Amino acid sequence: MTSPHLTVKQLFDRESCTYTYLLIDAETGEGAIIDAVLETFDRDMQIINELGVELLYAIETHAHADHITSAGKLREMTGAKLVYGESTGIKAIDIPLKDGDTIQLGHYRIRAISTPGHTNGCTSYFCDGMLFSGDTLLIRGCGRADFQDGDPGTLYDSITQKLFTLADDTIVYPAHDYNGRTSSTIGEEKAWNPRLGGNRSRDDFIAIMNNLNLDMPKRINEAVPANLSVGINFDANRYLLQDFDMNDLHRVWQELPENVLVMDNRTPEEYARGHVPGSRNIPMGTENEHVDELKQYERIYLYCRSGRRAQTTTTNLNFQGLDRIVCVSHSGMPDWEKAGYPVET
Ligand SMILES: [Fe+2]
Repeated sequence: MTSPHLTVKQLFDRESCTYTYLLIDAETGEGAIIDAVLETFDRDMQIINELGVELLYAIETHAHADHITSAGKLREMTGAKLVYGESTGIKAIDIPLKDGDTIQLGHYRIRAISTPGHTNGCTSYFCDGMLFSGDTLLIRGCGRADFQDGDPGTLYDSITQKLFTLADDTIVYPAHDYNGRTSSTIGEEKAWNPRLGGNRSRDDFIAIMNNLNLDMPKRINEAVPANLSVGINFDANRYLLQDFDMNDLHRVWQELPENVLVMDNRTPEEYARGHVPGSRNIPMGTENEHVDELKQYERIYLYCRSGRRAQTTTTNLNFQGLDRIVCVSHSGMPDWEKAGYPVET
């Protein structure tokens, strides 16, 4: 994995199957790390210290939903600059990059390629014949597009119109692999990626992506807000209510403190058929219009039918800077009714 002057170390986090990449210009000793994970911070620091790397950049491909970044901590410890795509909207970034922007690493240039679709702020990075594709393009796959403002059509365009125009022998280093594969090439993915290789159509791709029916990432409630503050100064206790269910909601609801909102984000029709008494209906997709009023609440409890919509909206609101949401992520109104709790129509 070494070219004459640029060394790439591919590091792995077993828990989230995340790949972290440490790029080092062997001549100058300057380095950049891509998608570093908080849990493996000590390991990464040890390598950086042992190799005498002067870490210039902590680069992220996007705000991850499955693990917490160590980018903020790396900046504190090494003085590295935080580099993200501008469209992530993260406030703590030192160097926000737009499509085509570059940063210099020793003799090498790292170029940002804006690749929205998995999330709105996804950025891939090209350097010396290698593509660090984040979750945009995975080996024989791609990132999901069903939360964090993801969009399958946009993802298709990013991959086919931007990444697939790179040279076929470009090495692809993704942010994850769940099957032990470590790299691919643009040529391979163009031919063999089952979701969009072989010139598969945009419509086919969208249909595939809309039918994945994946569970939400286990740590999404904790990881997204934490990553929006680049993995530092977040209150972990606030996100420990991950298994909050309708029985828990009932307990809270019985003595609902003032300034606390129970929010139902199902459709107005579903809401009309029966909802938690006193809850307010803000259907999924309209929450952005209510951000300012929602920010007034001390805490918001959010439920839907199965937990899926509540989860999606929670993530969207997290992106708008609202982090006081407790999401009922694995159950919903049917469980409330089944338990015989009061229902308002
Ligand atoms: Fe991701």
